[in-house]
Amino acid sequence: MMRLLVTGGAGFIGSNLILDVLQHEPDVEVVNLDALTYAGALENLEPLPDTRRYRFVHGDICDRPLVEDVLRRYRIDTIVHLAAESHVDRSIHGPAAFVRTNIQGTFTLLEAARMVWLEEGRAPTEAVRFHHVSTDEVYGSLAPDEPAFHEATPYHPSSPYAASKAASDHLVRAFGQTYGLPVTLSNCSNNYGPRQFPEKLIPLLLLNAIEGNPLPIYGDGRQIRDWVYVTDHCLALRKILDSGRPGETYHVGGSNQPTNLEIALQLCQLLDERLPESPHRPHAGLLRHVPDRPGHDRRYAMDCGKIEGELDWRPLETLQSGLRRTVDWYLANPEWVATIRGRPAYQEWIARNYVGRGEPR
Ligand code: NAD
Ligand code: TYD
Repeated sequence: MMRLLVTGGAGFIGSNLILDVLQHEPDVEVVNLDALTYAGALENLEPLPDTRRYRFVHGDICDRPLVEDVLRRYRIDTIVHLAAESHVDRSIHGPAAFVRTNIQGTFTLLEAARMVWLEEGRAPTEAVRFHHVSTDEVYGSLAPDEPAFHEATPYHPSSPYAASKAASDHLVRAFGQTYGLPVTLSNCSNNYGPRQFPEKLIPLLLLNAIEGNPLPIYGDGRQIRDWVYVTDHCLALRKILDSGRPGETYHVGGSNQPTNLEIALQLCQLLDERLPESPHRPHAGLLRHVPDRPGHDRRYAMDCGKIEGELDWRPLETLQSGLRRTVDWYLANPEWVATIRGRPAYQEWIARNYVGRGEPR
């Protein structure tokens, strides 16, 4: 039986991972440690496929005694570390929380794991694993003709978010090198899919479009991202836990290169099809260019040859099939949408980020 601690399991990727693991991995027990910040919601974990193999601990990854207690009490042998402040725009408005959670929090988890696993020897070293979930944003921006990021590309983060993730990656690798903590890392491109907090690009555009509100496109909208459907990311994480080599880093991505405008247009087209009676058709008429994000990276691209070759992972969804699933999930879950968007933190953010950009919403 694997005893898995997921940090940030009430967030977008964490909740999808927990649902995925409980459904597909009968020999795993899951403990979810989450502070339930604005981005976390226990509604993301309803309904759970198997409640007997799941525990929730409400707490902060910066709380060292708590983290050590969780590791000992539940005899954790595997950590998947997802808890983070994750939104670039929020990091521009308020970077301090990113330094605290992403750097200090990761450090605290590493210290706790070192203490409980290596110093106290509560589990054999070959039986434990600290997996750190990171992002392609640590590499900075690519020129149009530059090759995709690979696992040895030098770090060049642009935003406070990316810099804080880069720092956490360095700490994880240092704990592997210096103390022999068995670590793996993954850098993943932009995720999308069910339960993504609706201030991120895809759900924001979708929900605004359904209501006939403007669709804010930063700058010229020709920025390029690689997009991976969230359950494909979860599958990659399960493969890394199963057969990834300690000390290694794996890239995860969808191997696509759409511009933000192309994403917006595809979403509008899908909504045109799904909502033939909508008074807001064609939804593309709602697109609005708004002032750009400062320091906005133009392009990310991921070389995923290593995980494909070593772990036989490939994304199962294409961008089109994944966007279709995403649109259908948001249309089918208006209660989830209303609950999450009804929270003051969401409303405050929308006012803060968009009203200053000249948009009413
Ligand atoms: P999210 O913002 O949806 O969720 C983050 C979760 O962490 C929330 O449940 C929140 O309550 C929790 N959390 C925040 N601070 C905490 C703290 N101090 N202690 C305990 N819990 C805390 O994020 P996400 O999009 O699911 O991303 C998860 C991870 O994956 C992050 O580390 C992020 O950097 C990484 N990542 C995300 C993407 C993406 O496109 N979303 C891409 C690559 C990597
Ligand atoms: P985001 O989901 O914040 O991810 P990231 O910046 O981490 O890649 O944004 C994805 C892209 O969409 C990014 O280029 C910024 C852009 N964007 C907009 O054009 N408008 C918006 O309202 C938002 C939130 C993002």
